[in-house]
Amino acid sequence: MDLKAENISFSYNKKRQILKDVSLSLNSNQIVGLIGDSGSGKSTLCKIISGYISNYSGKVTLDDKEIPDKDYYPVQLIFQHPEKTMNPKWKMDKVLNEAWAPTQELKDTFGLKDSWLTRWPNELSGGELQRFSILRALNPKTKFIIADEISTMLDAVTQVQIWDALIKHCRTNNIGILAVSHDPELLEVICDDILYFKDINHI
Ligand SMILES: Nc1ncnc2c1ncn2[C@@H]1O[C@H](COP(=O)(O)OP(=O)(O)O)[C@@H](O)[C@H]1O
Ligand SMILES: [Mg+2]
Repeated sequence: MDLKAENISFSYNKKRQILKDVSLSLNSNQIVGLIGDSGSGKSTLCKIISGYISNYSGKVTLDDKEIPDKDYYPVQLIFQHPEKTMNPKWKMDKVLNEAWAPTQELKDTFGLKDSWLTRWPNELSGGELQRFSILRALNPKTKFIIADEISTMLDAVTQVQIWDALIKHCRTNNIGILAVSHDPELLEVICDDILYFKDINHI
């Protein structure tokens, strides 16, 4: 499958245009990195590609077809701060099962412990929470993952564990990844190809 963003332009307000004629494409057998300065609009682009922002110009397609937003959205965004995406009044088993019910094998791949399921989000570390948010995004209907600085807040060991598990799952299941980071060393290790945001944003 091919995910394409074509000629995306966007501004939050009249004062400043954030994106101008941004195009990129990736195949589901690829891991593509996107690197760029803080505040340049990478997360905004991620939100557009994942269906969180709709008032942009240009188009986002999957195998050259527009993505219907009524059904499950096959392009899933994983955020930098997992705690912001979870209901603090839900225990973790509800947080996880709201999305889907992953197999025990997949929970094990991500090192998710059963004892975490009965805790509240504020009783887990950032790395533990991020394992939940990644698993939530891996519903079998997911075709692409947009990983927006997903390991920036984590220590080096956790970062490696999480990326190993995510890459293994995505390679096996033919899920493409757009990995956004400001860390070139990380992207060089995990990506097939790296895009520079300043080269694709014609602002
Ligand atoms: N909801 C919003 N309303 C107005 N401006 C925003 C909003 N979200 C982000 N911005 C601004 O848009 C610019 C790009 O932000 P962002 O896409 O988060 O950049 P990056 O991810 O590259 O750091 C920043 O100047 C940011 O302050
Ligand atoms: Mg960002």
